[in-house]
Amino acid sequence: MTSAERTKRTYDRHPYPGTDLRQLEQKSGSLPSLQWMQAIGRPGRALPERVLVAGCGSGVEAVILRRRLPQAEIVAVDFSARSITVARRLERAAGSARPIRFLVADLTSPELARQTGGDFDLITCHGVLSYIPKPDQALRSLAACLRPDGALYLGVNGEASPAARLRPWLAGFGFALDELKNERRLRELLRLWDSLHDDELGELATMSVSYLASDVCGSHFKNWPLARWRAEANRGGWEVAGTDLLPTALLLTIARENYRPLFPLWNGEVAARLDQIRPVGFHRMMLRKAKAGELDLAFASKPGQRLRWTGFYSVRFRPTASRRAVKALLNCPTFRLRFEWTLTPPQAAALRSLVASGVSSAGWMTTWRRSAVARRTLWLWCGLGVVAVESATNPAPGTPAPVRRSKKFN
Ligand SMILES: C[S@@+](CC[C@H](N)C(=O)[O-])C[C@H]1O[C@@H](n2cnc3c(N)ncnc32)[C@H](O)[C@@H]1O
Repeated sequence: MTSAERTKRTYDRHPYPGTDLRQLEQKSGSLPSLQWMQAIGRPGRALPERVLVAGCGSGVEAVILRRRLPQAEIVAVDFSARSITVARRLERAAGSARPIRFLVADLTSPELARQTGGDFDLITCHGVLSYIPKPDQALRSLAACLRPDGALYLGVNGEASPAARLRPWLAGFGFALDELKNERRLRELLRLWDSLHDDELGELATMSVSYLASDVCGSHFKNWPLARWRAEANRGGWEVAGTDLLPTALLLTIARENYRPLFPLWNGEVAARLDQIRPVGFHRMMLRKAKAGELDLAFASKPGQRLRWTGFYSVRFRPTASRRAVKALLNCPTFRLRFEWTLTPPQAAALRSLVASGVSSAGWMTTWRRSAVARRTLWLWCGLGVVAVESATNPAPGTPAPVRRSKKFN
């Protein structure tokens, strides 16, 4: 039996995150906010019309997306037929107005675009690729399913995932990992484990045996550093546009002016290098399809590229701003970050025009290319998700990105 077949058998036996419809209806899932996915993956674009949930398990993720996007066409696939049966039941119980199309399909199949109809604006793939022996195959199939301006949200295990150490530890006590049962001794051992850990996963001792048997101790998994996932993504034709931790990590480096060795690396590489210093257990990232080099930050010397205000931050200009020093205050509703920058009057005027129109106009960069400090500020804003580099060959259509104040999205 191949490891893919073993994984399918595991999820047929233990659909994720369970089979009890009442419990599933209560779950809030672990997807990032739609606003973040749009701002980082598809800045300036309207809400997605077609969404693919890749590896949907027993349907919680798809039902949550249906609530967030009542008008969108949603297709959700999984190669575990039993998971799809549970997902269809969950959808009926949740009573969504517009049906979700659930399909049994393999993400690594070159037929995926034909089976799903392709042409998606947004693909979400949470907690799936870590269980696929050759994730680059799935990344290639997913790339074939996407519109040119679409984006992929990817959630995958990181190097610090506790699963890597837990498996051999439990095996050392004689547990057959692919046959885990809800035994008292297992719970005792997990409580012992929890007493010495403060994992991102939470308390293992309280988790269902189905979750432990499939996700934590399943037959196959990859706990990779971000650099490895990024290399895999690049092979499949993708580039990392941002991660959920990048703004916070970057801010920590900015606080003491320690970010300089990272300048002017592109967002994905910055995130990967910071992950090497402090590995995480789970990565949440937005990927865009990229031709090599298309998204690099050489924008400072490429007049063909422009910047798009992502709409993820609100900006306030001080009404009493002096002529010499104008401060822009940026507020992020999701990360609860706030920064202040001292800008020259021409820079403040340029920022004001960017906020108002959504995109940098011809000549906009001239103001910002003038000094090293200004170039670094733009670079930081890219990493934080305040602005995104847009290639002139693939601009976002029409309307400017809305500028939000502190409204919380989900
Ligand atoms: C941990 S679950 C995640 C489910 C869902 N994304 C969520 O977060 O609720 C992983 C799912 O990926 C599915 N899966 C793994 N390999 C797959 C493949 N090659 N094709 C389709 N689905 C796959 C499994 O069957 C399982 O349902």
